[in-house]
Amino acid sequence: MNIHGQHYRTLWLKPDDPQVVQIIDQRHLPFALVIEDLRTVDETAVAIREMHARGAGLIGALAGYGMYLAALEAVAGPADTFMERVAVSGAILKATRPTAVNLEWAITRQLTALAQTRGSNDDRVAAARRLAAAIADEDAAYCKQIGEHGLALIEAIAARKPGESVNVLTHCNAGWLAFVDYGTATAPIYAAHDRGVKVHVWVDETRPRNQGARLTAWELGQHGVPHTVIADNTGGHLMQHGLVDLVITGADRVTYTGDAANKIGTYLKALAARDNGVPFYVALPSSTFDWVMTDGVRQIPVEQRDPDEVRVIDGWADGRVQAVRLTPEGSPAANYGFDVTPARLVTGLITERGVCAASAEAVLRLYPERRAAAVIA
Ligand code: MRU
Repeated sequence: MNIHGQHYRTLWLKPDDPQVVQIIDQRHLPFALVIEDLRTVDETAVAIREMHARGAGLIGALAGYGMYLAALEAVAGPADTFMERVAVSGAILKATRPTAVNLEWAITRQLTALAQTRGSNDDRVAAARRLAAAIADEDAAYCKQIGEHGLALIEAIAARKPGESVNVLTHCNAGWLAFVDYGTATAPIYAAHDRGVKVHVWVDETRPRNQGARLTAWELGQHGVPHTVIADNTGGHLMQHGLVDLVITGADRVTYTGDAANKIGTYLKALAARDNGVPFYVALPSSTFDWVMTDGVRQIPVEQRDPDEVRVIDGWADGRVQAVRLTPEGSPAANYGFDVTPARLVTGLITERGVCAASAEAVLRLYPERRAAAVIA
């Protein structure tokens, strides 16, 4: 997608030094565009844990490149310890964030491919680089396809209210910044906007880290999509007054039975949507499915982060980013990163293969190659 009219992805190899991974350091947005160089597995682990790069798809793509850096580090050591060393690096990367399944998926994909690569360790480094690029390209391609499938939902609503905007509510940032390009929840919105369908987005601010207010609002603005930032508690009121046609969120892990983990607060939007007859869709690439878990509410690990992310907020003042405390000095805070929306509240899943119901039967119809391994309840 574009920043000031120039095309960017969220990560790439440094053109004049392909042993360096470059990312947009999202901690500085929307106030400054800062590009960070990652040269080691440890730097990559910090970038994921501290959310310089975040969002399920991007975490997966960066983990893919992190494994390429792991291979570069391993090739410098004794030849017969190569696989052992990349496995240790994989474990370090995997421990950074627990909820988004894309992380584990990308690392396992790299480890499996490395184990199957015949030839020298240099051949394995080359293979890891190729696979990292393939994971990133696939992420971008799948998000584009999600946009095409989701576009039909927006067009159907637009046809029922000619001349008016379709109002989409989204939570957190499942935009291009959360992936390699296009995003998931935003992809249908960009596709609609680009084809002249009038669309307006209600952007939940998404406390505590404000990915909606800071990132989604910024990327929609860069693309010229009309949007309004709202406090997190506003969605229910808007739905009661007919001001939301459709909710589209992203996801960090979706069980193949249709339970969807997404940024904390998503579940409350799904409840409000159900109470008001507003369709609630979850957009995801297949890398976000968990093909083993069957009960998302009980089984998906929910990340708990530093309580200071709740107590302290960053903002722009006097020409610089400043942090201020919001709470009484001694008040404890809790910081649950995600919640799980049960399948029964999800109208449908928008995937790269099409839109389907949030049920094992419908998901496995789209992904029949997964049927053999799935446990059907
Ligand atoms: O904690 P984050 O910012 O990595 O959380 C991810 C998210 O932005 C959302 O939950 C998003 O909707 C899903 S990621 C595509």
